[in-house]
Amino acid sequence: MTCLMTTSVVPAAGKGMRLGSQIPKALIPILGKPMLSWTIAALEQTPIVDAIVIVAPSEALDDFEKLRIGEGWRKVVAIVAGGLDRQQSVWNGLQAMPERTEWVIVHDAARPLVKPSLIVAVWEAAQEIGTAAIAALPCTDTVKRTLDGVLIAETLDREQLWLAQTPQVFAAELLREAHEQALKDGCTATDDAMLVERMGVPIRLVSGDPTNIKITHPTDLLLAEALLRAGEAKPR
Ligand code: CTP
Ligand code: MG
Repeated sequence: MTCLMTTSVVPAAGKGMRLGSQIPKALIPILGKPMLSWTIAALEQTPIVDAIVIVAPSEALDDFEKLRIGEGWRKVVAIVAGGLDRQQSVWNGLQAMPERTEWVIVHDAARPLVKPSLIVAVWEAAQEIGTAAIAALPCTDTVKRTLDGVLIAETLDREQLWLAQTPQVFAAELLREAHEQALKDGCTATDDAMLVERMGVPIRLVSGDPTNIKITHPTDLLLAEALLRAGEAKPR
């Protein structure tokens, strides 16, 4: 019997320019443990995740392999080289998924505080709708749009705005098609949902977790460590 699988693709090939880091961002320690180790630990602990593909900076593949051996990850089936931007990196990861993959969970290495319960909730929502679902938070700030970075052009209706996070879960074939179409059209996006939106397919929003922060600036590292210390964001 061939059973269908859920594979997580973890883009981790970013440089961490905004952190001003000398080492790849995914290897920066958080409470003494590389960021990627926290992220992969959450996926390893999530029962519905069968396989994990890590996308690493091409110049750091050896370091990532060493980490894999040291950590003894059971679900990691491949570590592949990333591309120039996140979209290319995810594309490379999609090529390395086991063939039987039916559902893909894209989750950024840069969100190491993700909880297994959120991963499962988004996966379940994707199954229900049959296409895709993403974690996102309702916007709490008032959002201004500007054309020149100096003057306000307009205020957007906050009630309609949600901030996208990862995990994002997709039917595997749908995500492949969306990436192929984007490549053809020369469309670039900062998340995968945007590529699938272009296909006119419904995507469910699932209430995300405010502690599932993206490590972008140096203060985010401080925040992540504080949350972990406080036990607020331990994988559950
Ligand atoms: N990413 C990737 N390949 C790239 C760029 C980004 O796999 N060429 C990944 C990052 O590793 C991260 C996620 O996409 O897990 C979100 O990217 P971001 O937070 O922007 O991380 P960096 O690109 O590393 O940071 P910066 O933009 O500050 O350089
Ligand atoms: Mg980036």
